[in-house]
Amino acid sequence: MLIVKNVFLPLKDRWVEGVVAVENGKYRSILYNGDANNGGANSFEVDSGGSDQILDFKDEEAYLIPAMIDPHVHVREPGFEYKEDWSTCSRAALKGGVATIIDMPNNKVPTDNSDALKIKQQIAKKKSYVNFGLYIALTDENSKYMAEGSYEKSICGIKIYMSKTTGGLVIDSKETIESAFYQTKPVLVHTGGLEGLKKVLSVYSRVREKKEGLPPLYICHVSTKEEVSEIKKWKGNFGSIFAEVTPHHLFLDKDSYRGPKRVLPPLEGTDDLKALWKAINDGTIDICGTDHAPHTLEEKHRENPPAGFPGLETVVPLLFDAMMKKRLTLSRFLEITSGAAEKIFGIEISAKILEGKDANFTVLIKKPWLIGEDGYETKCAWSPFEGMKVDYRPVVTAINGEISYFYGEFSKKRIKQVCV
Ligand code: DOR
Ligand code: ZN
Ligand code: ZN
Repeated sequence: MLIVKNVFLPLKDRWVEGVVAVENGKYRSILYNGDANNGGANSFEVDSGGSDQILDFKDEEAYLIPAMIDPHVHVREPGFEYKEDWSTCSRAALKGGVATIIDMPNNKVPTDNSDALKIKQQIAKKKSYVNFGLYIALTDENSKYMAEGSYEKSICGIKIYMSKTTGGLVIDSKETIESAFYQTKPVLVHTGGLEGLKKVLSVYSRVREKKEGLPPLYICHVSTKEEVSEIKKWKGNFGSIFAEVTPHHLFLDKDSYRGPKRVLPPLEGTDDLKALWKAINDGTIDICGTDHAPHTLEEKHRENPPAGFPGLETVVPLLFDAMMKKRLTLSRFLEITSGAAEKIFGIEISAKILEGKDANFTVLIKKPWLIGEDGYETKCAWSPFEGMKVDYRPVVTAINGEISYFYGEFSKKRIKQVCV
């Protein structure tokens, strides 16, 4: 049994100190200090035979939370391994307190058919340190099979690129877009901005007139106040529209940002940032995805750099710090980092600290950290947040009940493929 002691646990929008015991990959018991029903966490029995693994945080201010499920990651392998591969990417996830990553299909050769999915699945199983899921790209060629639901059993969702970005996949035809809404898995859209957003929403509502039941529509990386108000309008009528925000659009604005340039959608002004934070708090924005999109520094320093920022190592510390500074509530923090992903993708992997659930968690301790001071796990080895100070950082991450990250040490344990 694994026992984690003297940690604060989230309980209905507040923190309560307690003990967590994990056995066979799942939470076996969760005890809160001062809980009269079970005698309190201090009464917890430790195996006298000494076979328990005990993590005691009595000398720290430590917080145990469900590890993040990041639904928006560009792992890059196969094809762009010089930027990132499954082992470097998933180690970055572990260090950042992320237990599950879902990989985008815009590889060098796009992931747009069953063979490509199978190849990626094999690589991920062999190399990933964290749980993983896969997306397939919609193309004019595969749209017919998409509508028939041919790939549903091996994917977490379908990705539609409505404007050009890394990988060069672009869909323009409304008929092709429509085909994605005839199967059941979530449909994720890189809209390219307000115009694309309006277009996909109109196709989505047209399909509702033709058939019962729609798959979730997931709008990637909302970045402007105009997109926020458009989405707010539509969400009133559709319970199945979800909006994502990235950490870089929340924490970096175009006027003060000085790091390696170029990301899609671009960074915006402080008014937009304000609208995004408000949208997190009022529920217009449902979820955070990093859009972890590594490119080498050499590429980023070229005259026309490729678009994309890495974000796996920094997302949880940044958002946790913001939550402690009251920029968002504990319950919204838990929702946007794991709760919403569990619901949207129908995966039960880490969003709850409850007896019987899979134990995918991370422990953060209070200790000032300058981002970048201890290097990076991502192969691209830089961060747009370099030099920013946060007061908390993950020191332990457990995958399916086993410690996979421990103060800078990594070990590959049993991982799961999600959504399949
Ligand atoms: O900046 C971006 N980079 N935005 C995207 O949508 C794609 C990503 C990438 O794959 O590099
Ligand atoms: Zn995108
Ligand atoms: Zn992306």
